[in-house]
Amino acid sequence: MRVVPVSAAEGRRGILGTGIEEGLLLKPVTYPWAMELYDQAVANTWFPNEVQLGEDLADFERMSDDERRALTFLMSYFNPSELLVNKALAFGVYPYVNAAECHLYLAKQMWEEANHCMSFEYVLETFPIDREAAYAAHVDVPSMAAKEEFEVRFIKRMTEQTLDITTVEGKRDFVRNLIAYNVILEGIWFYSGFMVALSFRQRNLLRNFGSLIDWIVRDESLHLKFGINLVLTVLEENPEVATEEFADEIRQMILDAVAMEEAYNHDLLPNGILGLNADYINQYVRYLADRRLDELGFGPHYGVANPAKWMAAANDTLQLVNFFEAINTSYEVNARQD
Ligand SMILES: [Fe+2]
Ligand SMILES: [Fe+2]
Repeated sequence: MRVVPVSAAEGRRGILGTGIEEGLLLKPVTYPWAMELYDQAVANTWFPNEVQLGEDLADFERMSDDERRALTFLMSYFNPSELLVNKALAFGVYPYVNAAECHLYLAKQMWEEANHCMSFEYVLETFPIDREAAYAAHVDVPSMAAKEEFEVRFIKRMTEQTLDITTVEGKRDFVRNLIAYNVILEGIWFYSGFMVALSFRQRNLLRNFGSLIDWIVRDESLHLKFGINLVLTVLEENPEVATEEFADEIRQMILDAVAMEEAYNHDLLPNGILGLNADYINQYVRYLADRRLDELGFGPHYGVANPAKWMAAANDTLQLVNFFEAINTSYEVNARQD
């Protein structure tokens, strides 16, 4: 599958724009990848109460203090982040995308983020976790607050200033926002948290919680695919955006995000749990960052192996197998800037 370049789209405008009269008719579909992701997302629909989380309560009772603390720490990070992603979509993505098929997908993604938020609320309701303390951590824990501040900085440009999407700098801000949210937050930081969350099940704990996380991972992997396709399409249709300097900036954003995640993971796991420690998670973070760099057309930076191969196996159950690989081939020339 390939993205149709704007020149081949028979006079239709590119994927970016703000004209309200544009993007009101679905057919002909200009970006079939967006339509396929929408169909896939609808097929993946699930509801939190399909999982009997209460059955995990006995596990929670016999978990160590460090294990319970880690679970709470994850909820503290995930909960506000799900809502932050929706703000980024509403203010920074949806208004500047002109294709109806992309709007369909974004509408489904926004519902999914709401569903994830409610899933984590279900966790907070089911287990004896102090909700106020869990809520406070995203402000009180400096390494967690730093991640949030990093994200908020990008969306502020979209909400507090006028963004002119017809200018090169406006298009660059649009891409920066996608890198900050789809690639870094959803594609690196969330996966790092998912790996820790699913590690409980690897040790025969919180199996139902694990099912909830499986479904969230399945959704997030599509969010990531949509975001990367959107970035690559914008770069293909607007080659003036992707200067060497801009490519360096994007790569540096990802490397900075890895450093932030490493500090956060040391706070998440001051002591090891479940056979994990912060260094193990951080190797996974570096592995993830290399994959994202590769998907964007950069070479890998860290060159580390995946320490959690069982996570790769979990992701291989996705139905859109080799989607990135197919896209990557067609973008190799246009997207590679290093
Ligand atoms: Fe989410
Ligand atoms: Fe997401």
